[in-house]
Amino acid sequence: PRKIYFSRHGESQFNVQGKIGGDSFLSPRGELYAAKLPGLISDNLGGKPLTVWTSTMNRTIQTAAGLPYPKMQWKALDELDSGLCDGMTYEEIEQKYPEDYANRDEDKFNYRYRGGESYRDVVLRLEPIIMELERHENILIVGHQAILRCIYAYFMNYDQDDLPYLKIPLHTVIEFTPKAYGCEEKRYKVDI
Ligand code: F6P
Repeated sequence: PRKIYFSRHGESQFNVQGKIGGDSFLSPRGELYAAKLPGLISDNLGGKPLTVWTSTMNRTIQTAAGLPYPKMQWKALDELDSGLCDGMTYEEIEQKYPEDYANRDEDKFNYRYRGGESYRDVVLRLEPIIMELERHENILIVGHQAILRCIYAYFMNYDQDDLPYLKIPLHTVIEFTPKAYGCEEKRYKVDI
């Protein structure tokens, strides 16, 4: 049966600093994850073919660099654009834009960052990705938190209200085996 794997990029420098968005590279721990990922995938997949999809951002490209498979970069897989708030911590956003902060808390799926995107926007821009995923053989997506929440919710039938809160931890590979009804899921956590 075919497999779809998802992983967030390894821990980034912005993750360490608690900043959202940006285009930083990996932290030392993130680099360790990137180094362990090829072994985990090949143990799991055996010799079967795989295509790796990343976003166009440094942290996903760097995470996938050591994977010996054909790769494709998709702009549509870039992290949710946080507009004016890009590069800030949640505390800074709460201080500087308290109304925005409250509005997002009120309706996280529909809240659109000023000059940026909402989860609803991201779900729309991911449509072509989902179409391609349905047609392809084995795929590994090295992606971002908000993006993987949307894709995960599509396959696991979560609704809009739950989607922005789904737990997609760092340094974990999620494996989906599509079945006639729904998807079988396994998670592989990498200790670093
Ligand atoms: O903090 C990592 C990150 O991927 C940010 O770049 C992004 O804005 C955020 O997570 C998305 O999570 P949430 O929608 O919960 O703020």
